[in-house]
Amino acid sequence: MAGGVNENNDFIFMRIDIITVLPELLESPFSHSIMKRAREKGILEVYTHNLRDHTPYKQGQVDDYQFGGGAGMVMMPEPLAIVIELLQQERKYDEIIYMTPDGPLFDQKAANSLSLKENIIIICGHYKGIDERIRTHFVTQEISIGDYVLSGGELAAAVVVDAVGRLLPGVLNDETSALFDSFQDGMLAPPVYTRPADFRGWMVPDVLLCGDPKKIDEWRYEQSVLRTAERRPGLMDE
Ligand code: 6GU
Repeated sequence: MAGGVNENNDFIFMRIDIITVLPELLESPFSHSIMKRAREKGILEVYTHNLRDHTPYKQGQVDDYQFGGGAGMVMMPEPLAIVIELLQQERKYDEIIYMTPDGPLFDQKAANSLSLKENIIIICGHYKGIDERIRTHFVTQEISIGDYVLSGGELAAAVVVDAVGRLLPGVLNDETSALFDSFQDGMLAPPVYTRPADFRGWMVPDVLLCGDPKKIDEWRYEQSVLRTAERRPGLMDE
């Protein structure tokens, strides 16, 4: 179950440690808007660890040629094991996640389930990936964010942390509530409109201006059903 305390006894819900060779890539995604607020409120803690700072090899080497030959470098097991075990000395981790295009696809259900964890390590791969022995002996969960290949796991990790972070209790308020997000009830969200009611002669649907909350709810539900059937048939019976 999510929830713990930091060194100052502040209540925090989740701590995420990201192991990466490009910590710079992970600075901005968590420094704005909702993720920024989650961190400032102390609900979410995100730390990045530069793999090169922990390698026992010369000149910060973290990758090497693959056994058996073939193009592309592989991330060596030792630097990864060193960082993971260093972190594990400090606290117990609920999941050690490896970001990889050959992992199971990430979806809202996976985000919901991760949001209940307390301490998570995320490993970002590069090149041809990480030595298989780390996957076998340390990794507890693998995640892909879609059927395409990114140059590294960092952007994918940022996607996962954002999707999970916004679900933590206290991060969103009524106005940004996750309850009505697309996917949260297996349906896409309905269309939304704001001022002006008449923009270039393109009108907001009358029902949204009628002031009858029951009618509006019904219309939104209907639109959700239509939109889901049209764009994502199959989502509703998943
Ligand atoms: Cl998690 N990593 C990389 N490198 N590429 C991806 C991915 C992850 N998910 C989809 N493509």
